Amino acid sequence: MTDETFRLEAYNSNIESGRVKWASPSNIALIKYWGKREQQIPENPSISFTLSECKTITEVSFSKKEGNNFSFDVIFEGVKNEAFKPKIQTFFERIEPYMPFLRDYHFTIETSNTFPHSSGIASSASGMSALALCLMEIAKDLGIVEQDFNQKASFLARLGSGSACRSVEGPLVVWGENDTVSNSSNLFGVKYEAEVHSNFKNYRDTILLVDKGEKQVSSTVGHKLMFGHPFAQERFQQAHKNLADLDKVLQSGDLSEFNKIVESEALTLHAMMMTSMPYFILMKPNTLEIINKIWQFREETGSKVCFTLDAGANVHVLYPDAEADKVLDFIKTQLVAYCQNGHYICDTVGFGAEKL
Ligand code: DP6
Repeated sequence: MTDETFRLEAYNSNIESGRVKWASPSNIALIKYWGKREQQIPENPSISFTLSECKTITEVSFSKKEGNNFSFDVIFEGVKNEAFKPKIQTFFERIEPYMPFLRDYHFTIETSNTFPHSSGIASSASGMSALALCLMEIAKDLGIVEQDFNQKASFLARLGSGSACRSVEGPLVVWGENDTVSNSSNLFGVKYEAEVHSNFKNYRDTILLVDKGEKQVSSTVGHKLMFGHPFAQERFQQAHKNLADLDKVLQSGDLSEFNKIVESEALTLHAMMMTSMPYFILMKPNTLEIINKIWQFREETGSKVCFTLDAGANVHVLYPDAEADKVLDFIKTQLVAYCQNGHYICDTVGFGAEKL
């Protein structure tokens, strides 16, 4: 399969206007995507849990227009927003070969998140996948998409933000070609189809908001720093090996092994940042305090709780549904003190985007 597969045919529709609406969740990577080539092609495979509560809801109204430019407005949480426009302009430019109607309509993009904007939670995965799904829905209304809707939506979402291609479906999505998952692709995310052990059913993710500020280094810049990084090739190989190991663990239900792989991935991601040139640190002192508390709690109680990190200071606390009461109590009594204003978000693994 190549990019050409995703080129939609010229359309012939006299639809003047319409409205579509989708909700798309965020996702949390277990094996991390860090490093990419041109056209958002990942340097290594990744796999993520799709979340259910943290999501973006996007409604796109479209109406026929004259002229040959891209024309759109963005309304974020009820207020006209100029700041998001350049990212969407770039997205439109990238996806134009696949969406032949983009210059023929004016789009009003109304979007909001279920999580607070300034929470340090990346909204690019949920935001870009929600927008990609709305554009796919319009393509469907115009009569140019008949099959492989999710795959095409994931392909488009990837061109907006790499991790967004893993938000269309759930509960586990793999992106990036690898030998472990036979239908994997660099072009889109695929649902992890193997039978997953019941230990992972309704897996919990409580996101501890350690730092809600703007990150000093964006993911896009961070990915670029993997070019010429002294440990890049070893890291990309390691991701393949970790994915092969995690594949076994997801089927066997071995939570101790799960924790080893997931925590090692999180720390390796941040180790890559610390060993880039220029180097940077996104963890905060409280990130480390929380990690140490989790290790101590596990040691003392035999709990299977673990952590992972995104490209930021917040900590995702992952644990089995069966331990929910115990771990939530631990979070409230021992970890909330390290969160900014005591804020945290309770989420659970989910099943992907929904048409509204
Ligand atoms: C650390 O998908 O945000 O969360 O493709 O430049 O938009 P762009 O980057 P992005 O990178 C996410 C990196 C990560 C790991 C992951 O989600 O796999």
